[in-house]
Amino acid sequence: MEYQGRTVVVTGAGSGLGAAMADLFAAEGAGLALLDIDGDRAQEKAAELRARGADVIAMPVDVADKPSVEAAAARVEQHFGCCDVVCPNVGVQQFGAIDKLTDNDWSWVHTVNVMGVIHTVNAFLPLLRKSKGGSRHILLTASASYFTPGVRMAAYVATKYAVVGYGEVLRMELAGEGINVSMLFPAGMTTRHLESSIAARPKALGESKLNRDDIEAMMASAGITQENHLATAEHAVRNLLGELRENQPYIITHGAYKAQVESQQRKVLEAFDRMLANP
Ligand SMILES: NC(=O)c1ccc[n+]([C@@H]2O[C@H](COP(=O)([O-])OP(=O)(O)OC[C@H]3O[C@@H](n4cnc5c(N)ncnc54)[C@H](O)[C@@H]3O)[C@@H](O)[C@H]2O)c1
Repeated sequence: MEYQGRTVVVTGAGSGLGAAMADLFAAEGAGLALLDIDGDRAQEKAAELRARGADVIAMPVDVADKPSVEAAAARVEQHFGCCDVVCPNVGVQQFGAIDKLTDNDWSWVHTVNVMGVIHTVNAFLPLLRKSKGGSRHILLTASASYFTPGVRMAAYVATKYAVVGYGEVLRMELAGEGINVSMLFPAGMTTRHLESSIAARPKALGESKLNRDDIEAMMASAGITQENHLATAEHAVRNLLGELRENQPYIITHGAYKAQVESQQRKVLEAFDRMLANP
């Protein structure tokens, strides 16, 4: 019961990876705050965890909407007093070729995936600072597409690069306070991600487009197959608590793409070698 008496906040907790994270922390005795734009799903997950004995609150929150995240933080403070782990996990997907993605597509994906993470960290940082417990942690959900970008994913991949850049600086800035920052890089998961992204897109921005062609082109260009890349969310979090305990900065969940990362890193080092050959 490693997290007994501690409080964990998860965004996107009504489904997929966020729900799997909530299961993991609840099994270790944590109290949980489950935030999701789909309030019904968050409540269903909360009821399930309460039945297993966990102290859980759940609320509808749109991470793109700063006041909504701030209201959630006020509720968490009222119920738990402070928090120990924050998992800004929400990310939405909008596929599309670069000349098909609209300004609305770019703006929505950026507002949720980047500003949503920033709103969440800013709203809950005072509660992390208030905690008098042991290790405190912020766990950002990036994506394996940071390492293996595929075509038709420019908007999404750009936001996950932003999350990683933000996370690197966040880790440096909070290190002196004993607040750890880790980044999770999930590969493909059999979650509701595409379905929930369509549902979460504000109607005022126009309908979300989901073309089978885009997904097939993306998978082919990133070298993704069902066999080498897809897993359940439960499988993706199987080593998570151990990685957090060791304060690992980067957490790889599954997927066979190590060779692609090595090849990319080698190209960067070769660029240095070319420069150093002609300083
Ligand atoms: N599924 C994949 O293949 C995959 C791969 C790599 C990374 N990821 C990342 O994992 C994270 C979780 O995705 P998932 O696969 O578990 O998807 P999911 O759809 O199962 O869960 C995401 C949850 O986020 C909620 N949500 C969407 N927009 C929201 C908003 N504006 N405010 C609050 N909640 C909102 C949805 O209602 C949903 O319950 C995301 O950051 C995603 O980018 C997913």
